[in-house]
Amino acid sequence: MPRVSDLFFKTAIVWLVLGIGAGLQMAISGDHGAFPAHAHINLLGWVTSAIFGGYYALNPAKAARRIAMIHYGLYNVGLVIMLPALYLMLQGGYTAIEPIVAAGSLIVAAAVLVFAVVVFSGAGVRLPSDLSPATR
Ligand code: HEM
Repeated sequence: MPRVSDLFFKTAIVWLVLGIGAGLQMAISGDHGAFPAHAHINLLGWVTSAIFGGYYALNPAKAARRIAMIHYGLYNVGLVIMLPALYLMLQGGYTAIEPIVAAGSLIVAAAVLVFAVVVFSGAGVRLPSDLSPATR
């Protein structure tokens, strides 16, 4: 597995543990007020990261490009800023941190645009007949 895929999956599982933790906290307390944070931790942190990791695993040529690590770094910097701030804003009622949520969200959006560049640029598509046994 390419290094960037491994990193995406390792980070994704951390987000899943945190997302499930937030879900259990809501279920046990009966206070579901932070459900948008829980949903975004799971969907941006776990599901989307795993899809990114899977994409790079299927496209090792693209995974080897420097832009793939830029995508990984930018995306996770954005998530680390956005998701805890969103959780604190909803769960703790700290509405003053909304600009931090906004800043993190914009970084996440920028990282998704970087991924769009990865997907649409370069020759990453290989026919099965091109694959060596090592990459099959
Ligand atoms: C042990 C694991 C989980 C627990 C205990 C849990 C718990 C909860 C709870 C209590 C809510 C609030 C429901 C409401 O007030 O309507 C919720 C909402 C939600 N959860 Fe989870 N969850 C878990 C895992 C997941 C995972 C893995 C995902 C996504 C991959 C997910 C996605 C969502 C979404 C999208 C919502 C919002 C649904 C809505 O709009 O009503 N959850 N969850």
